Amino acid sequence: MRILGIETSCDETAVAIVEDGNRVLASLLNSQVKIHAATGGIVPEVAAREHIPVILPLLQAVMKEANCVWADIDAIAVTQGPGLVGSLLTGMDTAKALALSYGLPLHAVNHIVGHIYANWLDTTLDDQPKFPIVVLTASGGHNELALIENNHRLTFLGSTIDDAAGEAFDKAARLLGLGYPGGPAIQKTAQNGNPAAFSLPRPMINDAGFGFSFSGLKTALLVTVKKLTAGGKGLTATLTADLAASFQEAIAETLVTKLLQAARKYDAAEVHIAGGVSANLRVRTLAGQWAEQAGIRLRYPQKPHYCTDNAAMIAAAAYFHPRLTAPDKLVVEPNLALAI
Ligand code: KG4
Ligand code: ZN
Repeated sequence: MRILGIETSCDETAVAIVEDGNRVLASLLNSQVKIHAATGGIVPEVAAREHIPVILPLLQAVMKEANCVWADIDAIAVTQGPGLVGSLLTGMDTAKALALSYGLPLHAVNHIVGHIYANWLDTTLDDQPKFPIVVLTASGGHNELALIENNHRLTFLGSTIDDAAGEAFDKAARLLGLGYPGGPAIQKTAQNGNPAAFSLPRPMINDAGFGFSFSGLKTALLVTVKKLTAGGKGLTATLTADLAASFQEAIAETLVTKLLQAARKYDAAEVHIAGGVSANLRVRTLAGQWAEQAGIRLRYPQKPHYCTDNAAMIAAAAYFHPRLTAPDKLVVEPNLALAI
């Protein structure tokens, strides 16, 4: 079955065609990162407008790259939420128009469920993820832990009570003058730094539940920077690298501790990480080491492109967890909760 996926929940306009939930025939996107770099973050109205001129050319390019005509497409899948309302609308209206014009079934997809199914992309049939799975989705806009017992049973375990990990990376990078998006910038700078140079908190790792909180960590970094720059001193390259490495280590250790605590509690066969922050090399290394010690298999998306927002994950989620919806009944849900 070939599903055409459309994703426009934030600042990426993305279209993809995926066969049987794992074989990606084409997955393209238009990134607005250069536009938002100028403001150091996403301005919702700007993001929403930028989707409009690029979505139809992107759709044509995907059909061409996948070597498909409309008769080859079996269904359309579109992100319903969570996300920015103006951004979601462009993808939703395009999907509805395509479904009605070509008489195709239309599936509504939860963006976070999409991130979860990014771990199925490019897997072979004899190496599909094994349940039960504990999955961490960490991005700019979301930070959740969930237990998946099968393709129809997902239990939400916890989320951040304030900032998401990606958002914390973005704000820390801004504070350190490293640019946007912050995650890749912090990771690059951290390569030359000492992760033990500064003692930063690992929030909520001793709590019994599976919540996260990154605003205090962000404040701890701000306080440290203020002390170091008191009296108008600037940060040296060494200090900046040490701060980036210490901050990255605190986030990685916090995320991985919670992931492994949940995996042990629910006797997971696999642990997965997904979302933009799953591209982080330190998070991957630490999760890999800890998962190996616990005898649990770790997966993260097979390509960096599948970690951050993309449409292949939306098509995969609709294949494994179809949510057929009538085009005239479907509306965007900016605050859609994680559920399947
Ligand atoms: O999944 P995504 O594209 O968008 C949302 O749904 O939010 O994730 C973007 C977020 C940004 O906050 C970005 O800084 C972070 O993911 N990110 C990273 C890395 N690559 C992207 N964070 C840490 N390390 C990375 N290598
Ligand atoms: Zn996302």
